[in-house]
Amino acid sequence: MLNFKMGHLGLALAISLNFANFAQAQDEEPTPLAVAMQEMGNQLKAAGQLLSAKGDLPANLAIPRAIVTEVGKALPLIPLKVQTGPVANSNELLIQYKRLLTELLVSVIDLEEDFATADAEGALATINVIKEIRKKGHDLFK
Ligand code: HEM
Repeated sequence: MLNFKMGHLGLALAISLNFANFAQAQDEEPTPLAVAMQEMGNQLKAAGQLLSAKGDLPANLAIPRAIVTEVGKALPLIPLKVQTGPVANSNELLIQYKRLLTELLVSVIDLEEDFATADAEGALATINVIKEIRKKGHDLFK
């Protein structure tokens, strides 16, 4: 009887361990690039909310500065598409990625300046430019 119970317990354990492995394989780790991008997105949203609320821009310089930091982290990383897949290891594509991220870097520094000079109108215009660059980047690389 005891043996029988142990058998079931063992089987249950084996099944649950297997399931754990399966679950882990399902939700893949985000790439370091995805992590940097997520944080850019969070901070961009915070910037938009602050502008809608007509908040104090110079007092919230930490927001655009955080975006600048994340773009800096993303610049030397290599998109998954450039690592694997049909366009993998394209030298030109990797150069194009860096150029576009550099455009983004210039724009997020513009946003830092808009915040520093309390230029809400400028900040809204800059955010639109950033969103265009994001669309271009995702169309090409994501
Ligand atoms: C402020 C502008 C941008 C924002 C807010 C943004 C946001 C995001 C988000 C939320 C993701 C998904 C992360 C996930 O899957 O969990 C992502 C992925 C990605 N983005 Fe952006 N993005 C921006 C600009 C760009 C630009 C300019 C490029 C290319 C030059 C780019 C290339 C990518 C790539 C390649 C991925 C997939 C991750 C990987 O390959 O490892 N993004 N981005």
